[in-house]
Amino acid sequence: MYQGFDCRLFPFSAMNKVCLLSGRNALWHAMPVLGIKNEAEILVPSYNCGAEIDPIVKQGCGVQLYKVNTDLSIDTEDLKEKIAHRTKAVLVIHYFGFPQPVDLIRDICNEHGLYLIEDCSHALFSMYCNRPLGSFGDVAVFSMRKFLPVPDGGILVINNSALQLPEGLRPPTFKYEMHKRALQFILKMTGIDNRLLLLLYDFISRSFLRHEVPNGWPNAADENLPARWYNYRIDSSTVNRTISKTTLSVLGKIAKDELMEEIIRRRRSNFLFAVEETKNSNSATPVFDSLPEGICPSTFPVLVKERKEKHNLLLRKGIFCLKTWPVFYPGMPWEQFPEAVFLKKHIISIPIKQDFKKQRFHEAMNWLKD
Ligand SMILES: Cc1ncc(COP(=O)(O)O)c(C=O)c1O
Repeated sequence: MYQGFDCRLFPFSAMNKVCLLSGRNALWHAMPVLGIKNEAEILVPSYNCGAEIDPIVKQGCGVQLYKVNTDLSIDTEDLKEKIAHRTKAVLVIHYFGFPQPVDLIRDICNEHGLYLIEDCSHALFSMYCNRPLGSFGDVAVFSMRKFLPVPDGGILVINNSALQLPEGLRPPTFKYEMHKRALQFILKMTGIDNRLLLLLYDFISRSFLRHEVPNGWPNAADENLPARWYNYRIDSSTVNRTISKTTLSVLGKIAKDELMEEIIRRRRSNFLFAVEETKNSNSATPVFDSLPEGICPSTFPVLVKERKEKHNLLLRKGIFCLKTWPVFYPGMPWEQFPEAVFLKKHIISIPIKQDFKKQRFHEAMNWLKD
């Protein structure tokens, strides 16, 4: 137990939280909860996927990037230098489940009167100094899809007792629930690796579930952005919706001590296997080559040359891995962050999730060698 909540069941055990459809929606609601609006600026790490930036920009706030080193540690000196009179909060990302020195960053925030936002989208069940990640910030956001077999889900945790929960939230529409149930059913029947079927279903269902894109929001076609760009956008039609019943029913079954322990155990075991497998590899360099106690990793990130070709190859072989992250959010001074650009161009995240077989990882490493 820590300050009245059960550490192992965090964030489910957090006293003040709301369950939404996604991590980015949780970030969207974090802004008004913190009272951050127009003209305010948030410090965001330069290695990011865009889904952290979009809600901030769409809430009318400014984003100032700070430096992330190629080992994914943040440059606290650069962070301090970027604090200006408009700065209201610091966002910190615990990449792939590995903690940033969040106690140190908390101190910097306290010293400058800033809010701390923990992005725990990759850090469900990870601990730092025997305390769950997501319990240090004034607020924290989580993304369920990255860890659990659910179609949606984001949690906004509010740790600062002076802050109020967001209002005006509604459950998702019946159509949305049906869409997600159907998707869950396909996943259950075919397994996540049936990419073709999922893409086909996604394409067909999109034609029925049209998203509202408000006037004035940048359009992918106008900006000459890749189609995948939309995956990093916040969708205004779902932003005020709470988590789906489909996800809640799965979470109800999973949010138990022994099951969570098992998820953590398997993920750690797969990660350690991956470290061994890549030890002498000259085609894939692990971003992290050890796994300290308390960490529940989200994926196994590796640096590869010729990422596009290697990523395509792994997908063709049925390994559902991700390029993390190819999108350069428009309007950011990317040229000032060569380390982040390098990471965004070279990392592939290989799954190590609880049901991923070690043999598959072994095969993936062999394919990377080709
Ligand atoms: C670091 C980070 N923050 C936030 C998000 C947004 O999470 P979600 O996909 O649940 O909206 C993502 C994933 O896209 C992410 O990788």
